[in-house]
Amino acid sequence: MFTDMELLTEGLFWIGAATVTWVSVSLLWSLLTGIRVWIVGNGNLMRASTLGKWAVVTGATDGIGKAYAEELAQRGFAIVLISRTQEKLDEVSKAIESKYNVETKTISADFGSVDIYPKIESGLAGLEIGVLVNNVGVSYSYPEFFLNIPNIDSFINNMININITSVCQAFVDFFSQGLDAEYKSKGIIVQSVLPFYVTTKLSKIKRPSLDIPTPERYVKAQLSTVGLESRSNGYLPHAIMGWVTTAVLPANLLNKYIMNMGLSQRSRFLKKQKQG
Ligand SMILES: NC(=O)c1ccc[n+]([C@@H]2O[C@H](COP(=O)([O-])OP(=O)(O)OC[C@H]3O[C@@H](n4cnc5c(N)ncnc54)[C@H](OP(=O)(O)O)[C@@H]3O)[C@@H](O)[C@H]2O)c1
Repeated sequence: MFTDMELLTEGLFWIGAATVTWVSVSLLWSLLTGIRVWIVGNGNLMRASTLGKWAVVTGATDGIGKAYAEELAQRGFAIVLISRTQEKLDEVSKAIESKYNVETKTISADFGSVDIYPKIESGLAGLEIGVLVNNVGVSYSYPEFFLNIPNIDSFINNMININITSVCQAFVDFFSQGLDAEYKSKGIIVQSVLPFYVTTKLSKIKRPSLDIPTPERYVKAQLSTVGLESRSNGYLPHAIMGWVTTAVLPANLLNKYIMNMGLSQRSRFLKKQKQG
C-alpha cells in the first residue's frame, strides 16, 4: 500500500519528468529549426530557374529595396523596379543591367496615391513573375508625439496609402495569381519580413554594426529564410532581438525602452534642427 506522501511524491516526480521532457524537446526543436533556417538555408530556392523569370521589387531605388533588386539580379532574376522617381529608377536599372546582365523594367508610381494600380497592372501584364518583394514604406521624419506631427491629416493618409494600401493591393493581386499557380502545382511562398534597424535613408542610421546591418547584408541573410519561415526577422541577430522582445522582456519594460529611445531620437533631431 502507498502512503499519501508516497503518492504525492510519485505524482510530483511524473509532473517534473513530463515538464523536463517537454522543455528539452522544445529546446531541441528550436535548436534544430534555428540550424535549418540560419545555417543550412533554403539552398537554390531563390533562383529564377526555380521560381520564374521576373522579380518585382517596390521601393527599389534605395535602401533595402535596392539591395533586394541587386541580390535577386545576381541570382538570375530579371527585375521590375517600382518606385516614385523616374531618374532614380533609370539609374538603378542601368546599373543592374550592366552589372548582372539581366533584363530590367521600370514603373514609376507614387504609392501615396491610390490610382496607380492600373498602371502597375498593365506594366506587369504578361510577365512570368516568380518573386514579389513588397518593400515600399515610409516612416516619420523623426519620433514625434501624435498630435504634434506636422500636417497630420495628409501625413497619416500618405502613410496608410504607402504602408498599408500598397501591401493589400499588390498582395491580393499577387495572391490570386499565386492560387492560380498553385492549382498548376507550382508552389507559392508568402513570407512576412520583419526587420529591426537596417542602415538606410529611412532609419537615418549610417554606421553598420552586428545588430544594425547594411541593406546588402540584411537581404543576403533574409533570402535564405524564404520557404523556411512564413514570418521572419530575416537576420539572425534580429531574430534573437525578436525573441527577446516578444518572449522574454515584459511588455511594459519593452514599451518603456522604446519610448525612451524615441524621446532621445526626438530631442537629438530637434536640437539638430535648431542648430540649422
Ligand atoms: N531601415 C530600417 O531600419 C527598417 C526597419 C524595419 C522595416 N523597414 C521597412 O523596410 C522598407 C524599406 O525601408 P528602407 O529603410 O529601405 O527605406 P528607404 O531607404 O527610405 O527607401 C525607400 C524606397 O521606397 C521608395 N519610396 C518612398 N516613398 C515612395 C512613394 N510614395 N512611392 C513610391 N516609392 C516610394 C523610395 O524611392 P524614392 O527614392 O523615389 O523616394 C526608395 O526606393 C520599408 O517598408 C520600411 O518600413 C526598414
